[in-house]
Amino acid sequence: MTVSLGLSGLGTMGAALALNLADKGFDLVVQNRTAETAHRFVAEAGALAPRLRAVDTPADLVAALAPPRAILLMVPAGEAVDDAIATILPLLGPDDVLIDGGNANFRDTKRRAAGTAQLIGLGVSGGEEGARHGPSMMGGGEAMAWERVAPVLGAIAARYEGTPCAARFGPGGAGHFVKTVHNGIEYADMALIAEIYGILRDGFGWEPARIGDLFARWNTGPLKSYLVEITAAVAGAADTETGRPILDVILDRAGQKGTGRWTAIEAQTLGVAVPAIEAAVASRNVSAELDLRRQGEARFGPAPVHLPHDALSEDELEAALIGAKIMAYVEGFALLRAASAAEGWGMPLGQVARVWRAGCIIRSDMLNDMAAAFDEDAERPLFLAPAFAEHLAGAVGPLRALVATGIRHGLSVPALSAALSHFEMLRTERSTANMLQGLRDYFGRHGFERTDRAGAHHGPWAEG
Ligand code: 6PG
Repeated sequence: MTVSLGLSGLGTMGAALALNLADKGFDLVVQNRTAETAHRFVAEAGALAPRLRAVDTPADLVAALAPPRAILLMVPAGEAVDDAIATILPLLGPDDVLIDGGNANFRDTKRRAAGTAQLIGLGVSGGEEGARHGPSMMGGGEAMAWERVAPVLGAIAARYEGTPCAARFGPGGAGHFVKTVHNGIEYADMALIAEIYGILRDGFGWEPARIGDLFARWNTGPLKSYLVEITAAVAGAADTETGRPILDVILDRAGQKGTGRWTAIEAQTLGVAVPAIEAAVASRNVSAELDLRRQGEARFGPAPVHLPHDALSEDELEAALIGAKIMAYVEGFALLRAASAAEGWGMPLGQVARVWRAGCIIRSDMLNDMAAAFDEDAERPLFLAPAFAEHLAGAVGPLRALVATGIRHGLSVPALSAALSHFEMLRTERSTANMLQGLRDYFGRHGFERTDRAGAHHGPWAEG
């Protein structure tokens, strides 16, 4: 059954997706909150204009499409989505599908999907460029609704060796959850890169161009990924106004729209450890406190950052980044596994890795091996999969050296150090939580398990 297509919301992502659809041969009716924008969009679509038609209101959009319809909502996440659903859903026929393609909180999508089998929550990754030429798409909703739109989404998705990077991961908010975790990994990966940049800039006094060259070289090895590739581009770029390296004129205050934070919140809710992701979110928060940091430096002076030139080799830095990057994925996939179990999604992690192999921001060569690792053994934690265990075993020494060097010289490396500590905890059978249990029992009679026999026990401390 072919669907007729509509799109509501012609912001950056909506406009790019509309052009992508038209480019792939689909006819499309578009609508925007300000009608004039929709008409101008079609007028400026050049060779693609014949495939596009603008209408003024959501009701016009529905009326202009023959059932069965698929309407893609590309409006800002939050209230605008609720408003659009409330307006459009009552006008739809039983075989129509409404797709929310924004960065919704999966809890909102879950709530919205509870009221209708016609809603697909679709995480779309890849920024404007991805949306225009092939994004990675993570879907959630009823299988019947997905089946209706899957051919269209598959046609506009990024492809990895011919396979479209679009899949359904379960009902309700499953797709938006996968997108949220994608962004959590994105935050961690970017923080790790920024911390290595800090070591090179502040520790070794490297100029941005040299740093860019190093990342470009790393992008030909195991680190090959979109974020490492664009790090080289950003570090190598010059400001057109001043001619200075662009990194030297960009203010060091990071923005965020909330998806990284949601990943940390959901991990806490599920009791899953994602320390590298949490450190990345915290780093962004501290970066935003520019005035506080100014006051701090005025009071305490700058850190004694200069490193001996041979403190860390380029190979050590590369190995450390490989290990820490793997840990970011380890955390993300552990969170997906836990959420899938809690929500009953039955999410195949290999499929998640496959959908992330092209089009999205965290695409990297490693993901192909991760897909293979999950296909081989879906239950095995990623850090124990042979290929990744081998990388981690090789990375832990350099990662320790990097974190220790950074800390000794006052260079903050919170995400690298969180990734390292997480790995160290995961490879330690005898942890220190026996002390926690002793303390809990001492002050609260919470009880503890013993190493030598089963059951709940208490310590020899006096009552009361
Ligand atoms: C993507 C990106 C995209 C965007 C996010 C994160 O997958 O294409 O994740 O969705 O970058 O909105 O943005 P913030 O850094 O502002 O949270």
